[in-house]
Parts: sequence; structure tokens; C-alpha cells
Amino acid sequence: MASVRLVALKALHGWSIMSSSSLCNHSHSLLRHRTHHHAFSIRPFSAIMSPPSMAVLYDHHGPPDTVTRVVEVPPVELKETDVCVKMLAAPINPSDINRIEGVYPVRPQVPAVGGYEGVGQVHSLGSAVKGISPGDWVIPSPPSSGTWQTYVIKDQSVWHKIDKDTPIEYAATITVNPLTALLMLEDFASLKSGDAIVQNGATSIVGQCIIQLARNRGIRSINIIRDRAGSDKVKEKLKKLGADEVYTESQLEVKNVKALLVNIPEPALGFNCVGGNAASLVLKFLRQGGTMVTYGGMSKKPITVSTSSFIFKDLSLRGFWLQKWMTSDKAKECRKLIDYLLSLVCEGKLTYDMELVPFSDFHTALDKALGNLGSQPKQVIKF
Ligand SMILES: NC(=O)c1ccc[n+]([C@@H]2O[C@H](COP(=O)([O-])OP(=O)(O)OC[C@H]3O[C@@H](n4cnc5c(N)ncnc54)[C@H](OP(=O)(O)O)[C@@H]3O)[C@@H](O)[C@H]2O)c1
Repeated sequence: MASVRLVALKALHGWSIMSSSSLCNHSHSLLRHRTHHHAFSIRPFSAIMSPPSMAVLYDHHGPPDTVTRVVEVPPVELKETDVCVKMLAAPINPSDINRIEGVYPVRPQVPAVGGYEGVGQVHSLGSAVKGISPGDWVIPSPPSSGTWQTYVIKDQSVWHKIDKDTPIEYAATITVNPLTALLMLEDFASLKSGDAIVQNGATSIVGQCIIQLARNRGIRSINIIRDRAGSDKVKEKLKKLGADEVYTESQLEVKNVKALLVNIPEPALGFNCVGGNAASLVLKFLRQGGTMVTYGGMSKKPITVSTSSFIFKDLSLRGFWLQKWMTSDKAKECRKLIDYLLSLVCEGKLTYDMELVPFSDFHTALDKALGNLGSQPKQVIKF
């Protein structure tokens, strides 16, 4: 289905219209679609068309605040198993930014619509769709490119039905970050109640989820945040979520960070989404034989590991990438895990900071997500 939308995008971008005869021998499927939609104006009387969609589009890679624009994408015809979803909300995640910049290892072909997760309400169905009805709330699961637009058309297999009582900002954001937090806590060490973890980037959505998911299992968390004005308030907030200890990076400029820990065991597992000094601090807390899992590089600084960390502490360095996990056998569990996380949200056991922003303010939200306006809560576009 992505290809159909892509064809519409290409039409929008003034790709040269080929004559029907020149297309006759052309086997490329995109061009076949294109012929269908544009070279011939006749279509089956019963064709189900999507409404036109307003989309955040980029034609080439580059700084997101300069290469993205909001455009109208023409209607497309729904194939038999297609579902047209009216989007309700979608977040701006760091990886969305990296895809637009062109630095993410897997990214859609340009021109492309931004966004990778979100929630919407079913608008219309292809003739052979089963098990999904207009009005249902659905999320793309596994997540899928192109969620920053008012109508998304994808095959029925992409959509996972969720409870309509879910707050839209949580439904929109439940996959990329909370699922990452859950998997990282489960997959790298067998932690038991009373054990501890250490993490940097504790204010991120992943970080906030790690704190709460750990607390639910009786696992203590040591959290590192960036120095900032008002850091006491941030610490208080994270402690309310269940953080045991929260330190700014500068507080950890001491010879023996472990001496700061009272009644918390040395952690066997650490999470790093920052790099640079913040990664070194995670390593300093780890116990003999501990593991640091890197899943992000917000500071864009490399990780430096002392020789002694390997020789005398036998530390292990690992990495996690949700998109790779989604292609593994374990991904069969994805929807079950999403439902579990949404149930925690509904029970009030999982919460995180977000700001719902009207679609008309997309570029302000993007500025905030890019960090141009200082530390901000997660920006979630409301369509
Ligand atoms: N590997 C994977 O599969 C995977 C999956 C999901 C997320 N991630 C990664 O996880 C990280 C967090 O994502 P998120 O969506 O949860 O984040 P988020 O809620 O958008 O928050 C951004 C976080 O990055 C911090 N930050 C921003 N710029 C920074 C800088 N220059 N130096 C240090 N810290 C900086 C912010 O700290 P302040 O509060 O101090 O501003 C905040 O904690 C990102 O790196 C993302 O790419 C990876």
C-alpha cells in the first residue's frame, strides 16, 4: 500500500505524466499504479477512494525544519485488503528526525511522509477486509512509516485494534519507546526483585518507562540526567515515578560514585542513550561482570571505555535496536506486549510526559523536538 501512497506523492510532485502507450510495456508496479490513477481518468464505478490527506512531506534528506512541508496528497484507490485510517495522533521521536536527516540506517525512499507510529480511527475499508470496522481505533503494529498525515492507507495486516478508551497520546506513543524499555529490561539480564539498574537519559520517554517498569518488578533504578536549571524539580518528578536515585552528571564528578549508593546494590545492567561522559558514568556504576546496553546517542558523542573496565571489571557492551527486534522471531509477541503496556497505562502504572500539539502547529512542535527550545516534553501531533 505504501507504494500507492507514494504514487500519489509523486503525482503531487509533478513527476512527468507518461502517455498510456509508453506505459503499456512498462512493468514497474509503481508506474502501473500511476497509469491507473493518472494516465486514465476512468476507474471502476465501485472504486473506494480515500479522502485527500494533509501530510508532512520531505522530498530529500536534510535538516527536518527546512526539508519538511505540509502538503495535500490526492485521494488514492483502496485495494481489496486496504484500510484507510483517519489519524488521531502521532509523536515526533528522535528516530523520525534521524530518518528525515537521512542518517538512520533504514528509512523510506524520498519523497516520503514523516512519522513511524501513531493511532487512528478506521475511516473506510477495501472490499475484502475482515475483522476491522469503520470507527475502530488502530495502531500500526509493527510500526510503519508515514504516520504524519491525516489519512493513512495500509494493508489490514498492518493495523492492530486497540481499546477506544486509551488516551490518544499513549495509544500514539506506546510502541517505539515503552516497548523498547520493556524489552531491554527483559532481554539482557535476568533481574530479580531487589536488583538494580542504572541509566542515563532518564528524562526521556524510554527512561521514564524503564523507571516504572523496573519499579513494578521491585527493581531499583539509579538515574542520571543532564545538568539544567530546575534539576531539583526534575528529580522530584522522576522519584514520583519510582526512581530510587537521580543524579545530575556534575554530581557524579566524584572519585567513587558507588559510595553515593545507600541501600542499593551495585547494578548488573545499565542503559545508555546519550554517549560521551554520560555513558562513562553508567559504566562507573556497573558491578563486576555488568552489561551496558546502548540504544541511543543523543549527545552524538562516542563512548569511551577504560581498559581497566574490561580487564578488572569484565564489563560487556551490548546494543539494542527495536527495528531489528521487529524482524526477529520474538516479534510475534509484539501485539501482546503492546496490549500489556496499554493495560499498564489504563491502570495508571505507566505514565510519561507529553505535550499534545495541534497539527497546525507542526513546525513549532518540530522545533521543540529538535531541542531548539531547550528540554521539552515529547511532542505528540493531534490531527
Ligand atoms: N534503539 C532503539 O530501538 C530505540 C528505540 C526507542 C528509542 N531509542 C532512542 O532512545 C532515546 C530516547 O528516545 P525518547 O523518544 O524516549 O526521547 P525523548 O522522550 O524525545 O527525550 C529526549 C531525551 O534525550 C535527551 N537529550 C536530548 N538532547 C541531548 C543531548 N544533546 N545530550 C544529552 N541528552 C540529550 C533529553 O534530555 P533532557 O531532558 O535533558 O532534554 C531527553 O532525555 C533516543 O536516542 C532514541 O533514538 C532507541
